[in-house]
Parts: sequence; C-alpha cells; structure tokens
Amino acid sequence: MSARERVAGTVANYVDERTGAAAYLKKNLQKVFPDHWSFMLGEIALYSFVILLLSGTFLTFWFDPSMRTVVYEGSYQPLKEVEMSAAYASALHISFDVRGGLLMRQIHHWAALIFMAAIVVHLLRVFFTGAFRKPREFNWLLGIGLLTLGIVEGFLGYSLPDDLLSGTGLRIAQAIIQALPVVGTYISFFAFGGAFPGEVFIPRIYTAHILLIPGIFLALITVHLMLVWYQKHTQYPGPGRTEKNVVGYPLMPTYMAKAGGFFFIVFGVTAFLGAVASINPIWLYGPYTPGQISAGSQPDWYMGWLDGLVRMAPPLETHAFGHTISWNILLPGLIIPGILFTGMALYPFIESWITGDKREHHLLDRPRNVPNRTALGAMALTFTLIALINGGNDIIATHFDLTINQIMWFSRIGIIVLPPLAFVITKRICLSLQRADRELVLHGKETGRLVMLPSGEFIEIHEELTPEKKYALTQHEQPKAIELVTEDAQGVLNPKGIRARLQARFSAANAENIAKPTAAEVKELEGGHH
Ligand code: HEM
Repeated sequence: MSARERVAGTVANYVDERTGAAAYLKKNLQKVFPDHWSFMLGEIALYSFVILLLSGTFLTFWFDPSMRTVVYEGSYQPLKEVEMSAAYASALHISFDVRGGLLMRQIHHWAALIFMAAIVVHLLRVFFTGAFRKPREFNWLLGIGLLTLGIVEGFLGYSLPDDLLSGTGLRIAQAIIQALPVVGTYISFFAFGGAFPGEVFIPRIYTAHILLIPGIFLALITVHLMLVWYQKHTQYPGPGRTEKNVVGYPLMPTYMAKAGGFFFIVFGVTAFLGAVASINPIWLYGPYTPGQISAGSQPDWYMGWLDGLVRMAPPLETHAFGHTISWNILLPGLIIPGILFTGMALYPFIESWITGDKREHHLLDRPRNVPNRTALGAMALTFTLIALINGGNDIIATHFDLTINQIMWFSRIGIIVLPPLAFVITKRICLSLQRADRELVLHGKETGRLVMLPSGEFIEIHEELTPEKKYALTQHEQPKAIELVTEDAQGVLNPKGIRARLQARFSAANAENIAKPTAAEVKELEGGHH
C-alpha cells in the first residue's frame, strides 16, 4: 500500500467511525445510471443553478436594493451627475468600478438564460419521450413548479437594477396585476406600497430574489433529484433493456468523473459568454423614469412569449358595475398562460386517461411512435414561438423593414392557424417515419448497389438490419383504441356517456399508427429478399 493510499484509508476510517457513512456510500455509489446525451440537459440546468448561486452571491456584496435618490459620481461619464436610485447606481458601480464586477454580472445573466433554456429543453425531452408517465408524474409536476419559479426568479432578477428596461417590465407586471377584476388594484397597492413605482418594491423583490425563491428552488431541486434517484432513471429501449432493469454505468467512478467534467464545461462556456458577449448593458438604457421607454425594449427570452401575447391582444374592455375588465391584458397576461401551464401540469394524467394505461413505464418512447403526443408538443411549441416572435415585433420591424402592424396581424392570425397546422403536419411526419421504420425492418437498408440478374432484371441490394436494430425498432407497444361503451350489460344508459365518448374519440386518434411488422412478417422475409 502506498503512502497516499494509507493516508486516504486513515481519513476514510476516521470519517466512517464517526458517521457510519461507508456502508451507505458503498451501496449508493454503485448505483447504475443509463447513458444518453439527452439525460445531460437536466444536468445543465443543475450546474447553471450552481453558477447562479455563486455569481449572485458575489453581486450581493455590492448591490444596494434601495430607491433612495443619489447623484451618480462613478466612472461612467455619460451618466455623471445624473439623479438615479441607489439600486441603479450600485449596479453601475458593479459594472464599472468593482474589479471583475461586469464579468460577474454578465456571467450571472448568461447563467440565467442558459438555466431557463436548459429547463425548457429538458422539459421537452421529458415530454417527447414520455418520461413523465407513471411513476414520474410527481416529478413532472415539480418540474412545472421549477419552470414557473424560474420565469418569476429571472424576471425579478432583471427588474432589480432599476434601469429603464427593468422599470418598463415592472410596469407591465403591474398592469397585469391591476387587470385582475375587483382585487387587482388592491393587490397592486399592497405589492408596490402605494402608487407605481414607489419606494418599497425593489427592496421587496430583492428579498424574494436572493432568499425566498432560491430557498424554494434548492428544496424543490433536492426533492426532484431524490425522486430521480428513488424511481431510477428511465432508459431508451434496446437489447437487454427492460421495464425492470437499468443498463448503464455506475455512479462512481464513471458518472462522478463525467458530471464533474461537465460542470466545468458548463461553467467555462458561461464564463466565456460573460467575458465576450455583452448582456443587459444597463448603462445604455439609463435610470427608470415612468414617463420614458427606450426603442426596442426586449424582455429576456423566457418572458418574450408572454410579452408577445400581450402585444398582439386586441383592445377589448368590458365596463360593468363600476368595474373595468381589461380583457386585452387579462387574457394574454393571465388567462392564456394559466390555461397553458395548467394543461401542461395535468398532461400526464390526461394522457393516461385517454390511453387507459395505468402501468408503470421505465422504457422511453421514440417520439415518432406516439404521433399524437409529439404533434401536440409541436403545436404548443408553434404557439409559443409565434408569441415569442411577436414579442420582438419592434426589432423585427426595424431589421426587416416591416411595419409593426404587419407583424401583429401575422401573429394574430398565425397563432390561431399555425398551431393546428403544425399538429397535422407533425402527425403525418411521425406516421411517415413509422412507415420508414417498417420498411427498414422488413426490407433492410438500401445500399445503392444495383445488380443485374441473369434474367436481365436490375435489383438494388438491401442490407439486412442487425437483430439489435430490428429489436429497437419493433419493441414498442402500439395502443388500441378504447371501445365506446355508453350502456351497461342491462342496456341502461351509462351516466359517463359524454366522458366515455370523449375518451373513445381521443383514444382512437391516439391509436392511429402504422402497424409495426409482426414477428411472422419479419421471419417470412428474412434471408431471401432484396
Ligand atoms: C431547476 C430545474 C430542473 C433541474 C435542475 C432538473 C434536473 C434534473 C436532472 C439532473 C434529472 C436527471 C437527468 C435527466 O433526465 O435529464 C432530471 C430528471 C427529470 N426531470 Fe428535471 N430538472 C429541472 C426541471 C424540470 C422540469 C421543468 C421538468 C418537467 C416539467 C422536469 C421533469 C423531470 C422528470 C420527469 C425527470 C425524470 C426523467 C427520467 O427518469 O427520464 N424537470 N431533472
């Protein structure tokens, strides 16, 4: 035993005698995880969260969340002697007069953008592969909570510096609060401590941004990962992989090394972006004054779709019983996002109701094999994308020489017409891909080699797939439509009539698939075909 091993052993013994951790660690460090690049998306979210905590802590050393009026005396000359809030002045101070301050601000902002992007792409992976199915519905719900919290946390973050852009965003948030019928005005008064913008809001959101929400994040992420641990990670189908096993590498040393390295890659990319790519240059916007707004005001991307929805809303208002209901804000700002998020949260339960499938699933779906779900996802993405495009309508107008109205009308019509179109096209593409898979299994890969037979006939040689590949392409189940039963055995009308009809209709749509090759078909064609 080398000296180094002896020292390590002594330390390990010392710790074990006091904590009894060895047995626990020995068991758990050998836990096996399946391997796939798409499982690293959740990891990117995790690592950027750590980067957010580290860089954010640095910023708290200098940021002053106060609305006290000060005269700027820092080194950024264009704003010299300008009256502003202490919050804005301190954000300028971090950017220009604290060593490494601008780099840290930019790393923090880039990490937030990457965090949100990683969460969304991770969510899409989970959705399109059906990883949310039983027993992982709770983790899906936790995920929706994390996504919502991320949007709120990011918005509060870029509202803190009290620059012109952040104030403009807060004004929209206040308008959305005020649009709530009856209670809106009171909630706004309560939150802002009186009239907008007031003196108390920035200090309040600061506490939420650095203490409350990160605390909730930490708790939820911990539970999220504990559930992944306990329920085990899903795996893509393949030879040897079943609903009852996990094929992969052990946590120690393989994943520890990979995850550690990957953390530094994420950190490196974020730091590189923070160093070379300017983000949120608050000094160019100036301090917030409610009467001003800069051209091309853009929220961060994860808020852009909401802004886009608000920007495309027609001017609808109802006046009743002395109250004004501003549908133009209420609908895009609260009702539509509310429906989207509730629908997303309930999706695992809706799908299991439609399919009638209450079993556990640990093998992932290939998106093409579940055309309805994949098409629904494409539809939701198209909706959000059009809203996002409209969120940048002013920038698009100036860059592409269009008018705001042209873009707004494109968005208003597009947001109704294009998502259903995306659904139909995606479903057709999935079915075509299923057909292509069927062809591949039955007839093999085209090799491009043409051969002339003695009879003079030309044929193309097809290369048969390996048994592993054939298995991967055919192992999935194809759902059957649930039969419509509106009467019981005695001919009495079933009270669940409408629900049963809906379920039968949806499950029929869900069961629309290209029949996968049967074992008999594969056998029959095996060997003697081209
Ligand atoms: C702070 C945000 C989040 C973090 C840090 C995070 C982290 C992770 C990690 C590291 C994994 C294991 C690796 C992987 O499958 O990618 C995972 C799995 C999972 N996450 Fe997240 N996640 C977050 C948000 C979400 C969201 C928004 C959803 C969906 C709404 C979600 C749903 C799931 C599910 C269902 C699993 C289990 C996947 C499986 O076993 O295949 N997560 N998460």
